[in-house]
Amino acid sequence: MDAKTYLNTLFSVVDEINQSLLRAYARIYSVINGETLLEFGGGPAVFSLISGAVRFQEIHFSDYDQGCLAEVLSWKNNEEKSFNWDKCIEYSLYVEKNKELPKPVEVVERRKLIQSRISYLLTCDAFSDNLLLNSGYQRYTAVANNFCLDGITSDKGLWKSLNQKLMKLVSRNGWYVTSTLLNARSWSIDEKIYPAVFLKSEDIIDLFKNNGFSVEYLEVITSSSRESYDGFIIAFGQKILE
Ligand SMILES: C[S@@+](CC[C@H](N)C(=O)[O-])C[C@H]1O[C@@H](n2cnc3c(N)ncnc32)[C@H](O)[C@@H]1O
Repeated sequence: MDAKTYLNTLFSVVDEINQSLLRAYARIYSVINGETLLEFGGGPAVFSLISGAVRFQEIHFSDYDQGCLAEVLSWKNNEEKSFNWDKCIEYSLYVEKNKELPKPVEVVERRKLIQSRISYLLTCDAFSDNLLLNSGYQRYTAVANNFCLDGITSDKGLWKSLNQKLMKLVSRNGWYVTSTLLNARSWSIDEKIYPAVFLKSEDIIDLFKNNGFSVEYLEVITSSSRESYDGFIIAFGQKILE
């Protein structure tokens, strides 16, 4: 996956879809907080961390693809060629401030905060028994899997077992955050087609319950603008049983 093409295709405009996603993350991260957050399969995108960065002391950002990690590192280091997340940051702050437009300096401050809270960029592999390939921590206060595990296979059984492995990295009373495509047959970028699991909200509820998690929040965002899926499901829950 080409990191720049992915970002330019999906995030160059803060359209209705991105606004809905950013609102959902603002809501989720207004509730959860703690020491450590693992973003698993974060790709080249930091949009899901804009509201989360304030709430966690340390963020480990992981992906399988080295080009994606290089893009995030480039942004963290303020390189000119890196993707500009400021419009997404501005919108997230607008939501967090109850629809008050943030000052430009607040956007810069939040950008710097996210950059500083990302303490490690890690290579991960969902198909390995050792998801973070001997790096990172054994356990995290929160683990986020946004559009990763449902976008690397079309096999629902495999999706469940990959999530089950990842959910084990959440500490007791910690949090699991997940975003998936709704009713997806596939997803594509730049005419390249990738697999996706066909999921409904019941699948997400079962996933949380079957792995000892409560479901604290679940939102379905429908969208008719994509041919191969019907929208998005975003949820989070707390680990109540080991
Ligand atoms: C649809 S993208 C999601 C990226 C990002 N989380 C987002 O919301 O935009 C799927 C991501 O899964 C990553 N990926 C592919 N194979 C993987 C694997 N075996 N383990 C972990 N991540 C993988 C890709 O590199 C890609 O960044």
